Amino acid sequence: MLAKLKSLTLLGLHGEEVEIEVDLHRGLPKFSIVGLADTAIQEARERIRSAIKNSGFDFPRGVVVINLAPADLKKYGPRFDLAMALGILHATGQIRLPDNWDEKVFVGELGFSGELRSVPGILPTTASATDRGFIEIYVPEENSREAGIIQDIQVFGVRTLRQLCDHITNTKKISPTCHQELNPKEFPEDHEHNFSHVRGQEHAKRALEIAAAGGHNMLMTGPPGSGKTMLAKAFATILPQLTLHEALEITKVHSIAGLVSDSNPVVTQRPFRMVHHTASAVAIVGGGNPPRPGEISLAHRGVLFLDEFAEFPQKTLEVLRQPLEDGVITVSRASGSYIFPAKMMLVAAMNPCPCGFHGDEQKECLCTPYKIQQYQNKVSGPLLDRIDLHTEVARIPFEKLSGETLEESSRDVRTRVQKARKRQLERFLADNITSNSEMTSPLVKKYCPLNDESQSILRTAVQQMNLSGRAFYRILKLARTIADLAESDRIELPHVAEAIQYRERKEN
Ligand SMILES: Nc1ncnc2c1ncn2[C@@H]1O[C@H](COP(=O)(O)OP(=O)(O)OP(=O)(O)O)[C@@H](O)[C@H]1O
Ligand SMILES: [Mg+2]
Repeated sequence: MLAKLKSLTLLGLHGEEVEIEVDLHRGLPKFSIVGLADTAIQEARERIRSAIKNSGFDFPRGVVVINLAPADLKKYGPRFDLAMALGILHATGQIRLPDNWDEKVFVGELGFSGELRSVPGILPTTASATDRGFIEIYVPEENSREAGIIQDIQVFGVRTLRQLCDHITNTKKISPTCHQELNPKEFPEDHEHNFSHVRGQEHAKRALEIAAAGGHNMLMTGPPGSGKTMLAKAFATILPQLTLHEALEITKVHSIAGLVSDSNPVVTQRPFRMVHHTASAVAIVGGGNPPRPGEISLAHRGVLFLDEFAEFPQKTLEVLRQPLEDGVITVSRASGSYIFPAKMMLVAAMNPCPCGFHGDEQKECLCTPYKIQQYQNKVSGPLLDRIDLHTEVARIPFEKLSGETLEESSRDVRTRVQKARKRQLERFLADNITSNSEMTSPLVKKYCPLNDESQSILRTAVQQMNLSGRAFYRILKLARTIADLAESDRIELPHVAEAIQYRERKEN
């Protein structure tokens, strides 16, 4: 007897349909799985055999062959266990699957006792199942709240194989999981990092506010102990609230990486990923087998913070160039291309030279010009060209550090950021983007017209500073954000002038 069931495998965030065919025939006992299955799937034979026996059913004595179709698609992980076990039970006549079996999806790993274990990537799997017109999805109970985020499909959380069989045979029905509401939250006020803890540094704070409002990349350069790391950490507290769509996008990526749990099935805050300079290129951009999202994708719609920027190996930094431009990363494998989103804000911090005091007003720099040059060359020109806000974070004088002045809190800065982001969301309603930094060149032309005065100062800057075409567009996007913060519909001269002064100045 033959059984066929449906499941889904993931290629990045995209789910591909997999048909599980189970065939039984007479012969010496043998259990084989074909269809480009990885080791985890081959090992499923032992899990399925024990799970079936320990659930009170019989494992067939003859030859069991399972085919995972299409045969040319590489399949990974234990997510097909459940569908394979059900197929065997149906093929042996121990249960009878309903006639509309091909409208249902089964996903889950089995334990020896027949219990279902959670698997990563349930949210994108459920979303793909809905897009493909499936009406029901059966997932491990631990994953059911995550799957319940998706509307238009009925989700069933399953605890054990036996429980699902009772449901199928109408002995005891499982209640469908309730739909989960997405509710993006603000950062809690008592966050350990706060703008009010950083004394002075108004220039850097202003740049961070602009970066948060429009989603721009930023580099802070300054001597040791001036507060760069502190500022970057406080940056997380001024980021604008997520839209529902953004929360869903982020949760999908985190789901694949196995970073969402049953108690916290939805990512409700913008990610802030701080990466150490010893991290490998694969850890940063993604990869492995099966390909997993890297830090740039886990920081999607949030912040990727690279502290001690110049200490990162040059090769690692160069791989950031393409995703910084495109907002996606494609990991290619013989089995197919895995596309992960990577629209993040890059925030980097570095010292200006090995000793850290080049350009400091009080302390003398001990490095030779060659050493300074060598240090700064570690970050390549093309990468610096992708950074909109270059800020110097100087040391704070004693009076300011010990003064009693009250610094502005993150909450106040965030209110302005939020307002500016709201203007952008309204502007880009028909454009399928959420922030100024995502504008393509035609959109820049459409939304960033300049008056003659602004045009002329920009022309002078482009000529005198030898700016690239990319820098030209990036200045306009930044000016748009500065105008949004000023609640101005038009980009005026001061907005363009401020945007230009954040551009990198090359020392001769
Ligand atoms: N502007 C500031 N206001 C308040 N505290 C500060 C300021 N700058 C530095 N500090 C104090 O100094 C500590 C070190 O600052 P931080 O780690 O941010 O320096 P940094 O610029 O990242 O230095 P490095 O270049 O060595 O990494 C902070 O934890 C904080 O206690
Ligand atoms: Mg630091």
